[in-house]
Amino acid sequence: MQPLIDIHGLTYNYEDGTQALSGIDFQLMPAETVVLFGANGSGKTTFLLHLNGLLQGSGAISICGLEVSATNMTQIRSLVGMVFQDSDEQLFMPNVLEDVAFGPLHQGLSETDAELAALNALRSVGINGLEHKAPYHLSAGEKKRVAIAGVLAMQPDILVLDEPTTFLDPPGQRGLIQILRSLPQAKVIATHDICFAQALATRAVFFEKGKIKGVGGVNQIIEQFSWRPSD
Ligand SMILES: Nc1ncnc2c1ncn2[C@@H]1O[C@H](COP(=O)(O)OP(=O)(O)O)[C@@H](O)[C@H]1O
Ligand SMILES: [Mg+2]
Repeated sequence: MQPLIDIHGLTYNYEDGTQALSGIDFQLMPAETVVLFGANGSGKTTFLLHLNGLLQGSGAISICGLEVSATNMTQIRSLVGMVFQDSDEQLFMPNVLEDVAFGPLHQGLSETDAELAALNALRSVGINGLEHKAPYHLSAGEKKRVAIAGVLAMQPDILVLDEPTTFLDPPGQRGLIQILRSLPQAKVIATHDICFAQALATRAVFFEKGKIKGVGGVNQIIEQFSWRPSD
């Protein structure tokens, strides 16, 4: 079986010289949910930003068999749906429906079809009746679900989520687990939330100082690295 994500020797330095990733090898197989553990600053966000070409380091990244390069960014971004840690960075249109329809509209769908795609995506994350609200009037949990709908509307094969439970209260976190469970896409999720990881992940990867130090079952990795995030 071909991996959905296949990465060899990924290395990335920020402009100020910080080596954020070095020699990363990673595979994601169809239907897998992989969580990324590791302390703040270990490289998780930098890694995720490479999965749809927002950052481009050295090494080889292929997505669904397609080598990521400057020339196929549109295709890569329709395969990988990226949900940022802070929903306020993601939601920018005046109302929920326009926000979720933005992606499909820019993929070339007509206004009617983009709106239909948006309504379907909103339904799949359990958002009903909020279509005409301004995103900044929503709760953190609703914002997160709208942000997820925004990427689902583009029908990606892979969902990437950066610390999705950070701003959510416990009911919001439980709701998010249910929604993510119901979505068939393969997922890569950076999280500090052990219960969330245990509820969703088939595999965990442990980042330390820009390197992957271990790969295995969620509980195995927690034990191996005595991983107890304090936040
Ligand atoms: N824009 C940036 N410029 C310079 N260094 C950065 C930038 N963003 C992150 N870093 C550094 O890169 C390393 C990895 O950060 P990050 O990927 O955000 O880790 P994590 O998501 O695991 O907290 C850290 O040392 C961080 O300080
Ligand atoms: Mg981060």
